[in-house]
Amino acid sequence: MPLYILPRTSIDFVQEKCMERLNHSLEGKVVIITGGASGIGAESVRLFTKHGARVVIVDVQDKLGQELAVSVGEDKASYYHCDVTNETEVENAVKFTVDKHGRLDVLFSNAGVIEPFVSILDLNLDVLDRTISVNLRGAAAFIKHAARAMVEKGTRGSIICTTSVAAEIAGTAPHGYTASKHGLLGLIRSASGGLGKYGIRVNGVAPFGVATPLVCNSFKIEPNVVEENTLASANLKGIVLKASHVAETALFLASDESAYVSGQNLAVDGGYTVVKS
Ligand SMILES: NC(=O)c1ccc[n+]([C@@H]2O[C@H](COP(=O)([O-])OP(=O)(O)OC[C@H]3O[C@@H](n4cnc5c(N)ncnc54)[C@H](O)[C@@H]3O)[C@@H](O)[C@H]2O)c1
Repeated sequence: MPLYILPRTSIDFVQEKCMERLNHSLEGKVVIITGGASGIGAESVRLFTKHGARVVIVDVQDKLGQELAVSVGEDKASYYHCDVTNETEVENAVKFTVDKHGRLDVLFSNAGVIEPFVSILDLNLDVLDRTISVNLRGAAAFIKHAARAMVEKGTRGSIICTTSVAAEIAGTAPHGYTASKHGLLGLIRSASGGLGKYGIRVNGVAPFGVATPLVCNSFKIEPNVVEENTLASANLKGIVLKASHVAETALFLASDESAYVSGQNLAVDGGYTVVKS
């Protein structure tokens, strides 16, 4: 029966059921969020737990991570210290999650760093190594160990990595960061190819500039300036990009709502990478 001829109470019932479904899109799912103590990761911890997930927050900022776990409720989130550049720590983080919750359904590999802008003529290769080690190697280590845990349990899991507009285009970010995110997109596509036969999906979420500590602290820019710059450069007007928009997109990729989406890089950039304003 079309909605417009249903009595008021029935419409309320249908709406309530729809909202229930929307609010529980991760019910029963066990999720690891790396870089979960701050910015986009922390926003995702809050959103994913609201949608029924049990989340393990992985980060190196222990105080922030522990406080976040307490604030969302320790029955819903726990904190695990892990430097993503250390494979043993990565393996242990996945083991901690599976021991605690019995399974792993979703990996949101989101930890990242950015280095200062310098000319390619002055490139410091140690700085480049550090960026690639966190943004690309760290994601690779987590994909490997999370996928092993999923395969072992026969879980049709979802793996999401935070890429960037800098995964698709150059000139918006420093050289090492741009290289690391281009590499990460290659890894996402390659891993999706290898994991499809196990029913595991791998996707990227690609934000434009969000006012988080990564940008504000690294470049000493006030949050409102980051937001104004993004607004001015994006094609889509009248909306300010927030960490919550990225978290909502990651939620979609984590949930069964995106059951047939794999190998994609979903931009949250107001059209920046595809439309010249
Ligand atoms: N903010 C933006 O404009 C923007 C745009 C595109 C992509 N991104 C990406 O979003 C992701 C999240 O960044 P954010 O903007 O929320 O910044 P953020 O600094 O708030 O969060 C990054 C988190 O990663 C953690 N981290 C860094 N190195 C780590 C390591 N070795 N091991 C474990 N954790 C580590 C940090 O402690 C921090 O909590 C990053 O991958 C970043 O590249 C951000």
